[in-house]
Amino acid sequence: MRSVSSLLAIMLFLGTAWARDAIEVGVDTAHPGPKLDRHVFGQFAEDLGTGLYGGIWVGRDSPIPNTRGIRNDVVAALKELHVPVVRWPGGCFADEYHWQDGIGPAAARRPQPNYNWGGVLESNQFGTDEFMDFAQQIGTEAYISVNVGSGTVKEAADWMQYMTADAGSAWGQQRAANGHPAPYRVAMLGLGNESWDCGGHMSAAEYGFRLKLYARFVHNWNKEQRMQRVAVGPGGPKTEDYAESVMKIWHDNADWDWDLEGMSLHSYTVGKWPPSWPATHFGESDYARSLAETLKMDGLIRTNSAIMDRYDPQKKISLVVDEWGAWLAPTPGSPSGFLQQQNSQRDAVLAALNLNIFSRHADRVRNANIAQMVNVLQAMILTDGPKMILTPTYHVFRLYVPFQDAAILPVKYAAGSYSVGDFNLPRVDVIAARTQDGKIAVAITNVDAGQPATVEVDLGKVTAKSAVGETLAAAKVDAVNSFDSPKTVVPKRVIVPVQAGRVTLTVPPASVTVLTTQ
Ligand code: AHR
Repeated sequence: MRSVSSLLAIMLFLGTAWARDAIEVGVDTAHPGPKLDRHVFGQFAEDLGTGLYGGIWVGRDSPIPNTRGIRNDVVAALKELHVPVVRWPGGCFADEYHWQDGIGPAAARRPQPNYNWGGVLESNQFGTDEFMDFAQQIGTEAYISVNVGSGTVKEAADWMQYMTADAGSAWGQQRAANGHPAPYRVAMLGLGNESWDCGGHMSAAEYGFRLKLYARFVHNWNKEQRMQRVAVGPGGPKTEDYAESVMKIWHDNADWDWDLEGMSLHSYTVGKWPPSWPATHFGESDYARSLAETLKMDGLIRTNSAIMDRYDPQKKISLVVDEWGAWLAPTPGSPSGFLQQQNSQRDAVLAALNLNIFSRHADRVRNANIAQMVNVLQAMILTDGPKMILTPTYHVFRLYVPFQDAAILPVKYAAGSYSVGDFNLPRVDVIAARTQDGKIAVAITNVDAGQPATVEVDLGKVTAKSAVGETLAAAKVDAVNSFDSPKTVVPKRVIVPVQAGRVTLTVPPASVTVLTTQ
């Protein structure tokens, strides 16, 4: 048996070895960059599978504790994330949604089959007023996608009147009769969804024609809320011309009496279609493959930003990444079209890498919505009847709350490399920002699944005595929280002294750490 002193010597040696390999990160606190808009931490809740029904809406008579039909546990968990905006009702669903089916007394709602998502019957019990109630309960803004595919301009204009006009107008009166006299606020309006695909298989020119009509005639009547109109932008391959077309229409018609404030970009980490990458029981090679794929988000944003810059060098129009995340093989036995998947530590790292990419493009990417919020794709929350679990991705979004509306600070470091087979990745990924209350926040992702990383962060002239935060790590990259074991992947508190403006810490393999100076 080794003596305690020799063990200590080995530990000291390892400590020195790590320290020698330490990654030096310089944070330039004197030159803050653009604000990382809190809307980059937005969510997406489509009428799909159990994303709404079961996940958010259980109905007023449910034994699951609820407020006006909306489950209390989910609301409480989401409040912790300070969700800035929620996109609803789709997605592909939006282009088949007829909002008048979902207003008024419960018995008068008109059930419709959900063509896109398993053909199940949509009861329409969760409609506009329920969504607005949900948004108010979690304290978020509404991002409404109108039906450009199978709807009409008038239907969309009437919907906006129902939501935002005062009670003197016909649809405002109807809203008041349904129990909501005060106009709602709509912060963002999506003018269609994936019009190159499920939104109607339109060419860029065909969509451009409709875009002009919807942008011109679908008005926001609530003057207390500035509303951003978001055009459909590119998504998969062969849709790049959407960016060019949307931006040209906007640029060439600056004298018209309508405007645009955003163009969307959709990009999933999916590999080949149909999605088959495992959500559970995978190894380091799958882990590295998913992360290599997800890092392509940076190139996609660069390509589309370059197109936007040609028409809009002042960056008036936001690139709205309103669908992103891991789209994996569905949970075995789950209903077809429900897009249910587990969520692992790998997905937590994947989420952090994407948030970091958005932060590096904060001047153009001012909105993003992860797909999706509850029970669908890379979800924050999974529910099963009365049970609810928080996923590793949820924890990343909570750790990143200090970055909402924070000023991005330039960072300099040599990331090193982490290679698995053909996949070469940066070993670490770091961002820093000055928070709204003047602290410095640093997020460190150790991408390397095999080795811890020692990071020395130079914060310059700070008076802070310590940096406090949390680390999200797990024993394995495919570790998940399950209904039987809901706390397998949970963050641990970290407190590190700040000495002469420097913070040194060793972070575990495949982990996400966020620290804020105190
Ligand atoms: O998020 C699931 C689906 O992915 C959305 O409905 C659609 O817009 C995209 O293809």
